[in-house]
Amino acid sequence: MAPGKTVIAALRRHAAPHVPIWLMRQAGRYLPEYREVRTRVKTFLELCFTPELAVEVTLQPIRRFPLDAAIIFSDILVVPHALGQRVSFEEGQGPVLAPIRSGGEVRQLSLARLTETLAPVSTAIAAVRRELPPTVALFGFAGAPWTVASYMVEGGGGSDFALAKGWAYREPESFMALIDLLVDATSSYLLQQVEAGAEVLQIFDSWAGVLSSAALERWALQPTAEIVRRVKAKHPDVPVVVFPRGIGASYARYARECGCDGLSLDTTVAPSWAVGLQSHVALQGNLDPLALVAGGDAMQEEAAGILERLSSGPFVFNLGHGILPQTPPEHVAALCELVHGWKR
Ligand code: CP3
Repeated sequence: MAPGKTVIAALRRHAAPHVPIWLMRQAGRYLPEYREVRTRVKTFLELCFTPELAVEVTLQPIRRFPLDAAIIFSDILVVPHALGQRVSFEEGQGPVLAPIRSGGEVRQLSLARLTETLAPVSTAIAAVRRELPPTVALFGFAGAPWTVASYMVEGGGGSDFALAKGWAYREPESFMALIDLLVDATSSYLLQQVEAGAEVLQIFDSWAGVLSSAALERWALQPTAEIVRRVKAKHPDVPVVVFPRGIGASYARYARECGCDGLSLDTTVAPSWAVGLQSHVALQGNLDPLALVAGGDAMQEEAAGILERLSSGPFVFNLGHGILPQTPPEHVAALCELVHGWKR
């Protein structure tokens, strides 16, 4: 570890001179300079797979704000794309995928071209590493198998998960084949990112919270823990953060069983409850993205409440979900100042 990467220090439970901060989805539409770059390409995937542009948008928030980490610009749905599924991002309606709904359709997907298709992400990671200030850590990331599978099966976002959950209940063996394929693909892709220069990893399980307790164990926790094991088998020193959004008290199960270094808390988790988990894992989170949109006293009070309760243990300040497109960039600057000035 280069000296002075506060995010890495916190995730390793070492002391850091200030509370580190980065924000999920920190590159994106709330920045005018992102919107400008976005107009240079026809499709969102083209932005993800053109290293020069992916590097540029990854660095944009780092140039503006004193954030302690960058996250490589890409998307969780590049993995289904690289497995051979048709994926596109439609203006105003989010991702659209040609749905996979049977064991036969799973067998048509293939790992054969995964690494090659995702190679532009590696190129971008290596280039970002060369440009980042020495105090700023670079995150690689991927979606967790359950969340990625839910997009693959439903054919997009905004659904009630009836198709993905229905398949999992009706025919668990063939649904497990999809989850197993995603465990293989995601482990390989995360290792590829580490080998290109990613120093920390985050696994996004944005839809973990819609599963029953038993289904969470089978489709979310165990597959994610297996990915963490495979990454750690080759790179034991790379910290891994997991974000199982919306799982409530099951955060305690993740803290004990997932094998990750950090857990990212969604907005609904009470910091006064979560503080007990810091004996197992570092915590990250969990300011309401709408408090950041509001700014001012409301934001300061919410952020101070989190800092008071969590900053004495291993902690990285973040949002409880991704930054919203209507966020005023000045509010991000004010939040960085508050977090960096916080005396524990
Ligand atoms: O954090 C970063 O700055 C890195 C980039 C990043 C993106 N997506 C870029 C993006 C990351 C980490 C993601 C993760 C992601 N993608 C998740 C997990 C986190 C979460 O928010 O729950 C999920 C579920 C997706 C899938 C996805 N991608 C959706 C549902 C959408 C459409 C809705 C939306 O927010 O726009 C996307 C598109 C997307 N991914 C955009 C960006 C900047 C917007 C598209 C555009 O600019 O044209």
